[in-house]
Amino acid sequence: MMSLRQAKSKLSTLKDDPGNEVKLKIYALFKQATQGPCNAPKPGMLDFVNKAKWDAWKSLGSISQDEARQKYCDLIGSLVEEETGSSAQVSAQPAGSGATYETLLVTKEDDITTIKLNRPAKKNAITTEMYNEIIAALEQAATDDSVITVVTGAGDFYCSGNDLTNFTKIPENGVEEMARRGADLLRKYVNAYIDFPKPLVAVVNGPAVGVSVTVLGLFDLVYATERATFHTPFSQLGQSAEGCSSYTFPKLMGAAKASEMLLFNKKLTAVQACELGLVTEVFPDSSFQSEVWTRLKAYAKLPRNSLALSKQLIRSVEKERLHAVNDAEVERLMERWMSDECFNAVMSFFQAKAKL
Ligand code: COA
Repeated sequence: MMSLRQAKSKLSTLKDDPGNEVKLKIYALFKQATQGPCNAPKPGMLDFVNKAKWDAWKSLGSISQDEARQKYCDLIGSLVEEETGSSAQVSAQPAGSGATYETLLVTKEDDITTIKLNRPAKKNAITTEMYNEIIAALEQAATDDSVITVVTGAGDFYCSGNDLTNFTKIPENGVEEMARRGADLLRKYVNAYIDFPKPLVAVVNGPAVGVSVTVLGLFDLVYATERATFHTPFSQLGQSAEGCSSYTFPKLMGAAKASEMLLFNKKLTAVQACELGLVTEVFPDSSFQSEVWTRLKAYAKLPRNSLALSKQLIRSVEKERLHAVNDAEVERLMERWMSDECFNAVMSFFQAKAKL
């Protein structure tokens, strides 16, 4: 969250104390932007400072993290402006190629923007923060001057899918609220792929699980190391397909093969995924990075507008349908997330870990 950090560091440059009321507002917006609506236990009556902070956070109700981030940046921008008389702006979106994120490494080189998932210790499992950062990074890549955008993973995994701890952070107003927030975020996340306007390439550097596999149907090229596997264990987890895979997978590989993956949790090798059309090409692990990047650098020299316009033509035929599929999948998942089947499956994942 570069934007918040930028804003935070601007805050520390203020010479005048903005006063307690404004400071509480700043505190509350920061908490809301980074952690969502207040779910901390209410401090005791006599714990005045913490009670005042808690009240300020609580008073923001359920405004979204994005809105809080924007308000936080606006507020600090206006304080800086008041003090310096300048029109210094703190952008709510990470800007320029120097942007940094907490969970991603985003770089721009040779006309290629690379979004690298960067939680290797957790096999690049996607937390709520990471969903938001990927959405922001895709938005940034969509408008920067790169020709091609690449998604890849740090470490030995491409991605282990949805971070299952997302299910254990149940807000004060219950599982339903968790499911609703999760649904809104997933819809937005998948929309970012559906609407992405330039060639989007997955460089699958290792095993891929769950949502990182299903959205592959929305990429223009998928290059995989022979070490990669593709696994969507939805029914095992009491869940259902997302990422538009209920539409793209049967279309790519036929209904029977898609059902083996999406219903019966069949894990594919990279070669099998390539035979079924989910993967464009498989490379030996030892030469994977050099072969793929040599090729992508050459592709990125092609005329940029021609590439983008052709991609958009191909996507436009399906765009409306993909949005409808995304909406339907998200609606079904929201129900699944409130089900005992899902709750029990997630609990047994963590219990199995605890026993090891
Ligand atoms: N959510 C949360 N944590 C995850 C995770 C996920 N999806 N995938 C991996 N992790 C964590 C593990 O809990 C472990 O954390 P710890 O070191 O604090 O114990 C760490 O990442 C490393 O994973 P580990 O299981 O030790 O590695 P592995 O190589 O034995 O297995 C996986 C890797 C991905 C096969 C296994 O972790 C797994 O099955 N994860 C769940 C995948 C999943 O079901 N995703 C949702 C799909 S809908």
